[in-house]
Amino acid sequence: MIQEKESFYISTPIYYPSDKLHIGHTYSTVAADTIARFKKLVGYDVFFLTGTDEHGQKIEQAAQAAGKGPKEYVDKIVEGIVHLWEVMNIDYSKFIRTTDGYHVKSVQKIFRKLYEQGDIYKSNYEGWYCTPCEAYWTNTQLDDGKCPDCGRQVHMAKEEAYFFKMSNYAQRLIDHIEANPKFISPESAKNEMLNNFLLPGLEDLCVSRTSFQWGIPVDFDEKHVVYVWVDALSNYITALGYLNDEPQLMEKYWPANVQLIGKDILRFHTIYWPIMLMALGIELPKQIYGHGWILLKGGKMSKSKGNVIDPIELVDKYGTDTLRYYVLREMPFGGDGIYSEENLIARNNSDLANDLGNLLSRTTSMVDKYFGGCLPDVKHFDTPDTNLIQMATELPFIVAEYMNEYEISNALANIWKFVSRVNKYIDETEPWVLAKDENSQARLATVLYNLLESLRIIAVLISPAMPETAAKMREALHINEELMTWQSIEVFGKYPAENKVAPSGVLFARVMTEEEEKKIEKRVQKEKRKMEKAEVKSEEIVAEEVTEQYPSFKETITIEEFAKIDLRVAQIIKAEKHPNADKLLVLQVDLGNCQKQIVSGIAEFKDPNDLVGKQIVVVVNLKPAKFRGMVSEAMITAVGEDKETFAMIVPEKEVAPGEMVK
Ligand code: MSP
Repeated sequence: MIQEKESFYISTPIYYPSDKLHIGHTYSTVAADTIARFKKLVGYDVFFLTGTDEHGQKIEQAAQAAGKGPKEYVDKIVEGIVHLWEVMNIDYSKFIRTTDGYHVKSVQKIFRKLYEQGDIYKSNYEGWYCTPCEAYWTNTQLDDGKCPDCGRQVHMAKEEAYFFKMSNYAQRLIDHIEANPKFISPESAKNEMLNNFLLPGLEDLCVSRTSFQWGIPVDFDEKHVVYVWVDALSNYITALGYLNDEPQLMEKYWPANVQLIGKDILRFHTIYWPIMLMALGIELPKQIYGHGWILLKGGKMSKSKGNVIDPIELVDKYGTDTLRYYVLREMPFGGDGIYSEENLIARNNSDLANDLGNLLSRTTSMVDKYFGGCLPDVKHFDTPDTNLIQMATELPFIVAEYMNEYEISNALANIWKFVSRVNKYIDETEPWVLAKDENSQARLATVLYNLLESLRIIAVLISPAMPETAAKMREALHINEELMTWQSIEVFGKYPAENKVAPSGVLFARVMTEEEEKKIEKRVQKEKRKMEKAEVKSEEIVAEEVTEQYPSFKETITIEEFAKIDLRVAQIIKAEKHPNADKLLVLQVDLGNCQKQIVSGIAEFKDPNDLVGKQIVVVVNLKPAKFRGMVSEAMITAVGEDKETFAMIVPEKEVAPGEMVK
């Protein structure tokens, strides 16, 4: 824990409002948001900057093609970007647009200052120009005649231009990188920049353009506009008031603690940007972190390939926190990750719906059932508690260590190890068995208390990555904000005694995978074919009718008669007591392509908490009936008459819910 409020400044790149933002951009911003929220949680005074990079030829051309003025064109797209960040629950401190007046003025002052002090000079430029990247390249830099950054066609261009004497600062930058090994992270990015660009020698950088207009004019030579990267990179300081009206933010937050970027824009951020800052006499950011890319199985996402994954569509289908969790958990920080919707669904179903969601609902419903929602303030500790409490106490330190290195995926993996541990604790302590023994009430209350407290710790730890889920958990646990602070989880046992909770709602809904959907479709087709065949076969049987008598329990039926009974494997997703009948349980079951409610007279034999997650065999085409006001749409299959002999019929191994029993 830090003693005083230290400042922490984190930025994302500012996004081009040319293409629609996709899941890759979303990852960048969600990662920055998670780090910013974590730093706030542990007590820093955080400034988190994001925004849009709105100038340049590419945008000018896109606006022309759309028949709009460039500002009008970008305004509309920026609206969409702001909306996306709202949907993704991004809590930025400031959203900068490079068309904002204060930024434009500061950039003009920056350019003039660099010119007046001799870092920028006027000359002519001739070289290979890549319009989409807005970059000039020399012959040797070209990759097979194409732009080395994006691989697209370049063309020869010549213009009068201003140049920045990069070489003046190259050695200072090399020294800085060597003296500050984490300045460029990860290590691979540092080596790439040193070996490919800095050590071979830096060429002067062309920092103005005359071939188009949509940019910040050089105020002392108005036919030039400022090179878009000089304009864009400056945002990190103009947003803090550098050379404009509110320089106090600059004093408070600069130098940035971490500037998060994708690996494709490393060169701009780790060479041009620090050299610009050196020339301006400004301290360098502490760290530039180049994260990996979200790729698709076939490679990069691109508008031309038409394979861009839209985050808004995913949020509509799965929710904000499922998407946040997925990108944060699946992407190794620093390395690339492959996106697949199946993996997203699998993470949702196993980590979120099953492991975390069920843990919360099981716990709150047990507290409700056994103690009317309010645990008595009595404690009876036992062996399994020691290990659980130890793990819970160590966890915040482990998570902090990973988060301080921006290894969000590892931080989450450790939180989920604890989620599994807590689930195992329920199996070890068997609260439903304790509940039956009057002498075990203190032990039962202790077990449930430990569960509530563990859930509170989990809620705090996941709050930077999944703020909405943490808030839902806080509500379900019925605790106030003070118990959601980092300090409050450094010691186990802050969950208030005799606090009242109610059974929680569903945190994450289970989603059917495409594979499951396909399986169901396949099964339906298979069944159809079988039925057709069965008809043929039954005709054959009819032709050879058997007349002798065979022993039978009930009256013999034909295969067609048996086929009328639709037996399926169902997964129990919820189980609770019937509100008006002690003997009845009300089950919600998943049948793959639908869910059904079953009212069953098994309350004396089965604890509802033991049933959730189990697969059983049910009759699904029985005529629905009402039992004390609740409709039963199917019937379970079981043997036995009493507690000792009662057993449900279950499949031998886990199968897809809805699978037909035949
Ligand atoms: N406008 C420049 C940045 C200027 S910062 C002074 C830019 N914009 S961008 O919209 O093209 O990209 C913004 C960020 O999104 C970059 O860091 C880029 O690496 C990142 N990503 C774009 N596609 C991505 C993935 N598929 N995966 C992860 N990040 C990706 O560059």
